[in-house]
Amino acid sequence: MKSLHRLVALCLLAFSLSAFSYTVPQGSPGFYHGNSSAAVTFDAHSLFLDNKRLYVFSGEVHPWRIPSGKAAWRDVFQKMKAAGFNSVSVYHHWGLSEGKQGSLDFNFFRSHTDVYEVAKEVGILVVPRPGPYINAETTAGGFPGWLTNNPAKARTNATGFTQAWTPFMTSVAKFAAPFQYPDGPVIAVQSENEFFPSSGSDTGRSEYMQAIENTLRGNGITKVPLTHNDANTGGRFVKGLGGVDLYMWDSYPQGFDCANPTSWSEVNSNYEPNAHQQYIPDEMWASGEFQGGSFDPWGGSGYDKCFQLTNEQFANVLYKNNYAAQTSYQNLYMTYGGTNWGNLAEPTVYTSYDYGAPIREDRTLSPKYSEIKLQATFLHSSPDFLIATSSTNGTSITTNSGIYASVLQSPTGVGFYILRQNSVKTLTSAQFQLRVNTSQGQLTVPQFGGSATLDGRESQILVSEYPFGSHKLQYSTAEIFAWSTIGGVDNIILYAQAGHSIEVVVSNVAAGSTAKVSGSTSINARTGNNNTVIITGSPSGISSVSISSKATVIVADKHTALSFWNIQLPSTTSTIYDKAPDVPSVFIFGPYLVRNATITGSRLAINGDTNVTSTTIDIIAPPQVNSVTWNGYPIRVTKSNIGTLRGTIITSLQPITLPNLKDASQWSCLDSLPEIQSNFDDSSWVTANKTATQRPIQPSAGKFVLYADEYGFHQGNTIARGHFTGNTATGVQLNVQGGFNFGYSVWVNDQFLGSNQGTNQYSSGGGTDQTTDTWTFNQTSLNTGDNVVTVVVDTTGLEEDYSGNDQFKTPRGIRGYKLIGGGDFDHWKIQGNLGGEDFPDKVRGPLNEGGLFVERQGGHLPGAPPTLFNQSSCTPLNGITSAGIRAYKTSFNLDIPTNVDAPVALQFTRTPSSSYRSVIYINGWQFGRFNSKDGPQTVFPLPEGILNHRGSNDLVVTLWSLDANGATIADLELVTTGIISSSKEAVAQVQSPSFSDLRL
Ligand code: GAL
Repeated sequence: MKSLHRLVALCLLAFSLSAFSYTVPQGSPGFYHGNSSAAVTFDAHSLFLDNKRLYVFSGEVHPWRIPSGKAAWRDVFQKMKAAGFNSVSVYHHWGLSEGKQGSLDFNFFRSHTDVYEVAKEVGILVVPRPGPYINAETTAGGFPGWLTNNPAKARTNATGFTQAWTPFMTSVAKFAAPFQYPDGPVIAVQSENEFFPSSGSDTGRSEYMQAIENTLRGNGITKVPLTHNDANTGGRFVKGLGGVDLYMWDSYPQGFDCANPTSWSEVNSNYEPNAHQQYIPDEMWASGEFQGGSFDPWGGSGYDKCFQLTNEQFANVLYKNNYAAQTSYQNLYMTYGGTNWGNLAEPTVYTSYDYGAPIREDRTLSPKYSEIKLQATFLHSSPDFLIATSSTNGTSITTNSGIYASVLQSPTGVGFYILRQNSVKTLTSAQFQLRVNTSQGQLTVPQFGGSATLDGRESQILVSEYPFGSHKLQYSTAEIFAWSTIGGVDNIILYAQAGHSIEVVVSNVAAGSTAKVSGSTSINARTGNNNTVIITGSPSGISSVSISSKATVIVADKHTALSFWNIQLPSTTSTIYDKAPDVPSVFIFGPYLVRNATITGSRLAINGDTNVTSTTIDIIAPPQVNSVTWNGYPIRVTKSNIGTLRGTIITSLQPITLPNLKDASQWSCLDSLPEIQSNFDDSSWVTANKTATQRPIQPSAGKFVLYADEYGFHQGNTIARGHFTGNTATGVQLNVQGGFNFGYSVWVNDQFLGSNQGTNQYSSGGGTDQTTDTWTFNQTSLNTGDNVVTVVVDTTGLEEDYSGNDQFKTPRGIRGYKLIGGGDFDHWKIQGNLGGEDFPDKVRGPLNEGGLFVERQGGHLPGAPPTLFNQSSCTPLNGITSAGIRAYKTSFNLDIPTNVDAPVALQFTRTPSSSYRSVIYINGWQFGRFNSKDGPQTVFPLPEGILNHRGSNDLVVTLWSLDANGATIADLELVTTGIISSSKEAVAQVQSPSFSDLRL
């Protein structure tokens, strides 16, 4: 016992000796492949940039899911950076960039360089994840459609596959190479995605992985580590053939069942640390993908439910559990989801890829964003966290055995206590005292009365011996947002839930100091023994404790703290990416968003957004600041009672008047199914004359292979016309495969035979992606000469290749056919998007268009001739009275001021009792696929830059009734999903080709 006491005393001495410095020992720079001169290195604890440790707080964004391009990307990256994300992880999409083999195109939203440039300008790091296979709930998992016709097995070293991906990956490397840190923001590059090595008879996989790495290295990726995201903790590619420099793994602990958003799985705190020790004890634990939200299938619950499943409480408990497990790299998938516009989706998801992410599809900020901001900002403020290691875990660290605590202790003496309730099923709060290690020995706190509180599904990170400038928190039962020494004063910002009591002891205060509370009187402060100040109370609003003008402790209730920002200032001594507490910064309290701030002389210029007409803003800035501008306009500030500069931002948030879509005179329409007319000429269509396929899945019946992809049609609606002679056949049997929730309708000549639709993967039996149906002819519909069976198929995308079994080659369109009652089809004609792989629209790219008549004619393009829409006063609200397809067009003007961010969406009213499918085109861009039976999406965001906020717009909506008695869209209107007074750059209209460019 005695010697133990001595040991404790020695340690305590060590703690107090280090008391005046927060500098973290940097250790020797990390390693990878022996490249000791690399700018990006890592060790068992963290990554280093320029030999300085950092927490990589990363968010997943897919720039190609925001085709408006640079200005929209900048908005998202700035919002991320403001919340403390210092890195963005981006998949690149091979399929979008090579619509035809050999025709790589990295222009517009496909540009890699633009992504890196915007990131560099904003000051956010980038981890490119170019695949070539990416999964990502995108069609074919990011593979090009033409790859389905390549007989070589994908994701192996088969020659045909290697030849296919090498040009893309070579380009990827060459684009990224000049942007490797420190010349640009690229700090690592991921090879493949959730992949698995060769095994047994499954050969050529590790070789393929190694070949990707060689291609990246051989084309200039020499300065940064190569990474891989294992699907789970399987230790794949830690070492051996294809092994990467930095092994990561993915985790989605709450799964994807948005239908039960309040039902959570229990949290496991041992899993990740065990895997870390098992596989990479000498490397930092990096979370390649950690659940940021959830995808949602056709017929699912909708993204608001997914948001609820993975809401701010989820972020609070699960992300803090990661910190407890000592991750120092966390990538939240998704942080901004975006849109599966233009047939980007694979069959398990629909148009929106909102994902319930912290930044919603319309780029508005959610409560989860604010929760993440509190955490990320804290991590950047806490360099000691990066060298802290696990000391104790379990239920005995607090006085309440219902609380699980993980204690991390840094060699510098700082303690981090990460608390949660044992069970996430517990929704009630728990009272406790915590045992903390301090320079005064172990204390059980709160020690001056009362207890601390932890709500159900709440997690807290409490600290001991936590340095801020020349001061310390001996301990705190309030959480820390951030600290910064500003004008010689050490400012630290603390928060706790309203109604919770806190106890904080500030140590290292100068002898004889005083403590003065101002602002909300819910907090008390007094001086204590041993040069301390004791702060107690229950936060409500903002209280400020000034300790002899040397330190300021701000204490706020958590709700108030959600609007706090810690914004780094441009500095000559640190890089634009650095968010450590030694980088000069300001605190700004109040606004909806603060993007950035600069100080010139005595003026602080702040750029940000507000979502209410009057916002009180409190600023902690260096003393020389005496004037403030908000988005360039001066705001009057005065010294407030809590010592901040205080002013009011007044903005006028006028409601935006949107055009009414109900006025029939504003619409015209065309019949988009002339294919069932007797005089329709399909001679220019592709003849489906293949009698064999090299795909794993063979036709189920019929002489000809009718898979649309075999003929170069890889997305959207496709049409097949089968010709047979004579009137003896009595019917047709069709096996149609279009992916989950697909739909099709069939006619013989102009007689409607019927329709069928698939279901989603969660339906009983695992869902339907194909059906086999027998359709009976009405003999009077037949001719003695040529008869035509017309089949329109709405495919929901190509499958992914998650398991590496060429599943993405699954057929789309007619899988098998049989004429009943004698005879056979003479020949089949197939049609999809105009030109197939030789698609004309090089701006909107290979996937945008499908094969409906209106699309092939270019009716969806701006400037389509009025003669094409040859019927007037027909609206989708009146609809059609029989099975068939009609396309409706209207034009409208918008005049939304440039300083207002008013996301506009097209809203449908759904009638599940009637079966219809719609495709939405705005200015030639396909921004929605609607399916009345399944939904759930009824609000389709039309992003600025695609939608013209200051000018005219062309909207085309198709209505395909799968029912014999027709369909109407019950209601259709334009809505705004937010009105924000914004400092974002106005998003310029993407210069995209018109009808005359593409169809004349
Ligand atoms: C991961 C995959 C991602 C995405 C995610 C689910 O397994 O790597 O690409 O599919 O699951 O949204």
